[in-house]
Amino acid sequence: MAPSIYYLGVAGLLAYAALANPTAPISVRQTGTFVPKPGYFPATGDDTIAGGIFCISLPDLAAYLQRTGNNPGATGSESPRGQGAVTQGSGPYPAQMTTTQDLPNHTIYAPIKPPTDNISMPFIAFGNGGCSTVGSTYRNFLTEIASHGYVVAADGPPNGGGGSNGQSRVQDSRDSIEWAMKGGATKYGTINLQNITAAGHSCGGLEAMSVSYHDERVKRIMLLDISIFQDNRRYLLSEIKVPVAWFVGGSKDMGYPNAEKDYALLNAGLPSYKASLDTGHGGTYSATNGGKFGKAVVNYLNWQYRNNATAKSILLEPTSAGSLVSDHWNVTYKNWT
Ligand SMILES: *[C@@H]1O[C@H](CO)[C@@H](O)[C@H](O)[C@H]1NC(C)=O
Ligand SMILES: *[C@@H]1O[C@H](CO)[C@@H](O)[C@H](O)[C@H]1NC(C)=O
Ligand SMILES: *[C@@H]1O[C@H](CO)[C@@H](O)[C@H](O)[C@H]1NC(C)=O
Ligand SMILES: *[C@@H]1O[C@H](CO)[C@@H](O)[C@H](O)[C@H]1NC(C)=O
Ligand SMILES: *[C@@H]1O[C@H](CO)[C@@H](O)[C@H](O)[C@H]1NC(C)=O
Repeated sequence: MAPSIYYLGVAGLLAYAALANPTAPISVRQTGTFVPKPGYFPATGDDTIAGGIFCISLPDLAAYLQRTGNNPGATGSESPRGQGAVTQGSGPYPAQMTTTQDLPNHTIYAPIKPPTDNISMPFIAFGNGGCSTVGSTYRNFLTEIASHGYVVAADGPPNGGGGSNGQSRVQDSRDSIEWAMKGGATKYGTINLQNITAAGHSCGGLEAMSVSYHDERVKRIMLLDISIFQDNRRYLLSEIKVPVAWFVGGSKDMGYPNAEKDYALLNAGLPSYKASLDTGHGGTYSATNGGKFGKAVVNYLNWQYRNNATAKSILLEPTSAGSLVSDHWNVTYKNWT
């Protein structure tokens, strides 16, 4: 997979070219276009644009990139050199990419066999960069997460296609959550439906925030290399009631300056976490086992959902063995006990 698929800008603009044909069918299950207005809070995070109310339209994105001079393809000192290997993950539950007939427009990442220790596996709904519907795009990264006892549903079948005609909408992530809530994931083992995460890279991260809005089933939000672009949408953050974690790619990443803003604007007292590694917008998802982003996110999840004290210290304590700081992440956090 070409690295460019990871970039909201490049992939998004390509998708925009595809959508420019007005006669092409667009499967949009949303009913209206969200227009931001301070004090106006729609019932759900749906929108007619990909990624929902927290996202940016493709024409606005193009204008944003032009205005800021941001290059979504820029890499950093920590960017992977070449494509990593496909593995079964480094965790205790060898995992794989798979599909399931009862969620046909998604890709599943799960342990190959139900864990014999019957560990309870938190469920993650994942949105891809560019709101792409190619569900295999983050294979290395998501297989790594699954190998630690998680089940992930990413938007789109492994080879793309599905219902959304090029870009995913909030409903795609919601379909994943509904499927899990109905017991769809139990064939992979025992699923923890009390601890659902919405996560995603770039446009998919904004989709994660949009699906989490007013949906109390989602207990954690993880945003990868992204945050809200438009200042006039940031007031919506007051409706975010669960901890948010940002893993961003340093000053070349368009997620970086915006995560700075959103981190400061979250509701008072809300626990949040922000880490930054010099990779640009592309992160390390394509590296073997998802590279340093894979390690960081697995430890974050194990801290949050398994109360793993070692994982917590890796995230929070610069001097702990294998800390994110020792991996060259900048780390900021607040309100954790
Ligand atoms: C696995 O754990 C779940 C609770 O997490 C429990 O309901 C179930 O009975 C357990 N299954 C086995 C085979 O032990
Ligand atoms: C999956 O996508 C296809 C083709 O785009 C669509 O016809 C179908 O309704 C979708 N299936 C589900 C379960 O959403
Ligand atoms: C880490 O913080 C330093 C000091 O503020 C800054 O110069 C550097 O760009 C940051 N690196 C990343 C990857 O965010
Ligand atoms: C969900 O995660 C929280 C936070 O770590 C934890 O305290 C709680 O036990 C988890 N709930 C379940 C049902 O696992
Ligand atoms: C806790 O996290 C550490 C660091 O990631 C890991 O090595 C260890 O296996 C985890 N413990 C459990 C019980 O999952």
